[in-house]
Amino acid sequence: MVSPIHIPENAPFTPEQRQWLGEFLSRILAQPAPGAALAGPPVMITVLFGSQTGTAEGLAKKLVKTLKKSHFEPNLQDMSTYDRTRLPTEKNLLIITSTYGDGEPPDSALDFHTWLMSDAAPGLADVHFSVLSLGDSSYPDFSQCGIDFDNRLAELGATRLYPRVDVDVDVDVPYAEWSKAVIALLSSETSAAASTVAVTDEIEEGGFSKKHPFPSAVLANYNLNGPGPKQTNHVELSLEGSGLVYEVGDALGVLPENPASVVDEIIAALPFKAGDVPTPTGEEVSLREALICHYDIGTINKSLIGKWQKRSGSPFLRSLVEADDKKAYEDFCWGRDLIDLVLDHPADFSDGEDFVSVLKNLQPRLYSIASSPAAHPGEVHLCVGIVRYDSYGRKRGGICSTYLAERLSDETKPGVYVHRNNAFRLPADGNVPVIMVGPGTGIAPFRAFLEERKATGAKGKNWLFFGNPHQATDFLYGPELEDFQKEGVLSRMDLAWSRDQKQKIYVQDLMLKEGVEMWKWLQDGAAFYVCGDASRMAKDVDAALHTIAREHGKLSAEEAAAYIAQLKKDKRYLRDVY
Ligand SMILES: Cc1cc2nc3c(=O)[nH]c(=O)nc-3n(C[C@H](O)[C@H](O)[C@H](O)COP(=O)(O)OP(=O)(O)OC[C@H]3O[C@@H](n4cnc5c(N)ncnc54)[C@H](O)[C@@H]3O)c2cc1C
Ligand SMILES: NC(=O)c1ccc[n+]([C@@H]2O[C@H](COP(=O)([O-])OP(=O)(O)OC[C@H]3O[C@@H](n4cnc5c(N)ncnc54)[C@H](OP(=O)(O)O)[C@@H]3O)[C@@H](O)[C@H]2O)c1
Ligand SMILES: Cc1cc2nc3c(=O)[nH]c(=O)nc-3n(C[C@H](O)[C@H](O)[C@H](O)COP(=O)(O)O)c2cc1C
Repeated sequence: MVSPIHIPENAPFTPEQRQWLGEFLSRILAQPAPGAALAGPPVMITVLFGSQTGTAEGLAKKLVKTLKKSHFEPNLQDMSTYDRTRLPTEKNLLIITSTYGDGEPPDSALDFHTWLMSDAAPGLADVHFSVLSLGDSSYPDFSQCGIDFDNRLAELGATRLYPRVDVDVDVDVPYAEWSKAVIALLSSETSAAASTVAVTDEIEEGGFSKKHPFPSAVLANYNLNGPGPKQTNHVELSLEGSGLVYEVGDALGVLPENPASVVDEIIAALPFKAGDVPTPTGEEVSLREALICHYDIGTINKSLIGKWQKRSGSPFLRSLVEADDKKAYEDFCWGRDLIDLVLDHPADFSDGEDFVSVLKNLQPRLYSIASSPAAHPGEVHLCVGIVRYDSYGRKRGGICSTYLAERLSDETKPGVYVHRNNAFRLPADGNVPVIMVGPGTGIAPFRAFLEERKATGAKGKNWLFFGNPHQATDFLYGPELEDFQKEGVLSRMDLAWSRDQKQKIYVQDLMLKEGVEMWKWLQDGAAFYVCGDASRMAKDVDAALHTIAREHGKLSAEEAAAYIAQLKKDKRYLRDVY
């Protein structure tokens, strides 16, 4: 029995059209799979992805695997290496992309995006396409990169095979619905029947995953900073018995729990008696457990405010919703979380089920893995900056970082899974020199890189730029890094202590100071890596790289931009920024 196809509400159809399309697709899916060999040549489909941390890439690969089981010939393409001259000749084009920065394309899609938006983009009258757009609605420019691709392809004359689906964090259900629908449509349009395998949900591959995280024993957990306001924990977790494997460059997903004290405060202020409520996967648990383990109480966004306002008499929320001003929403949401809505804008909920129906699911957080499996078999290490701040008269903390720092008992085994990131790998050739820029927690993957280069006996030179406020208290992994230097694993280490003198010194200042040498390393084929803060540091480091290319490579601004775009294409400029 095939489940009916849900047409997303953001699709440009009336409710009647949505219903008709849903039924039409369901009828196609209900046709028996032919089993016998299909007539005609296989249907060509290009699956083009843009991904920063591997989610869109993973889905694109999964889709290709599914398509291969049916009468299709899929061609998997990374936007960073895609030959654009092919675009007008694509018959069927499926795009899966994420959005980064402030509504920007992921690094791997940047060049393709810029070209497609420009006047140089060709007419696409023969192209049929559909876009799956990954994002997170807690960002103001939700799903923007996918929206850009979707609009622009249509503008260039391409035909929408199926409406764009915007994915808000949880990818599984929207991906399954979108892929079922596009496969059904491609099958009907081309007379290639979708096989049963292709149109039913894929069986999850065995083992531990985001849906089924591994309860991992905590082997060590301590603060790397000396006395002062900053806390950065080194966390060692056991993967013994999990079957989980990782490579340096991957991230670890950690499922946090919300603080029980805040949950109790929320429950005490709610206008109904707490009973059992469904979890996102349909189990019945107490409201308290649901709010600790399953629902997001740490962020508020436009969507939640809209739902809250309908149940609340708050004139302020009404004016916020009516004004629909992006900046006003951002200002209101920054530094507030669910407790502020509960206390300051009381709303009517009939019961716990009604209450949790407006909340988003509690999401795992990703951490760049700070260890090499070759150096620490059966273990995975993290370097976690603990987020704490005061706002609106309340001491607050980041949910996952304070969970790891404050709320683990001796028995707690946090749920973890490996998030592969093929876009952040060491060069396959150990002789290639490597430049790493990782201030603050950005050091994490570079500790792993150095351990890996040491363990594999890689001969390539390694240059690290690290920075933090004070040398005395914030030299994360200082002794280890100095040992790497003594052993010759680390060829150069440049340290930017931002607050040890009057004038701030940042990693990019040291890069610029060492511009001649940096340029030489790049000319010698070095790969350039950046990890850490996306909003300021990564942008400034990028600008410094452009300056170095201009000043020491004697390139014009345009040539420098082209040179750096080529570095990205060649996978020699890789970023793991957040
Ligand atoms: C691929 C990837 C790799 C990462 N690697 C690492 C890593 O190696 N180490 C690491 O520490 N982190 C890393 N992160 C970040 C990490 O995933 C979490 O985002 C981080 O730990 C914060 O999560 P949290 O649950 O503690 O905070 P959350 O509960 O998510 O809270 C963070 C939110 O709190 C609010 N906030 C924070 N500060 C303030 C303030 N001063 N005033 C008002 N509001 C504020 C903001 O809304 C902010 O978005 C990585 C992220 C990605 C995507
Ligand atoms: N998503 C999240 O909620 C979350 C959680 C944790 C971390 N992060 C991000 O990850 C980053 C890493 O956190 P962290 O505490 O380890 O380190 P950090 O805050 O990035 O600080 C590391 C060093 O970078 C310096 N710095 C500040 N602005 C810079 C710039 N424009 N260019 C280069 N260096 C700059 C800091 O100097 P000064 O401080 O002296 O200016 C400090 O010396 C944070 O900045 C934060 O944005 C995000
Ligand atoms: C630093 C950062 C910035 C992001 N910015 C946005 C954004 O502006 N809009 C959005 O919808 N999603 C944003 N996201 C969410 C990602 O698009 C989402 O997590 C996506 O699933 C990642 O897919 P990927 O692993 O393929 O890159 C951001 C995520 C991070 C870590």
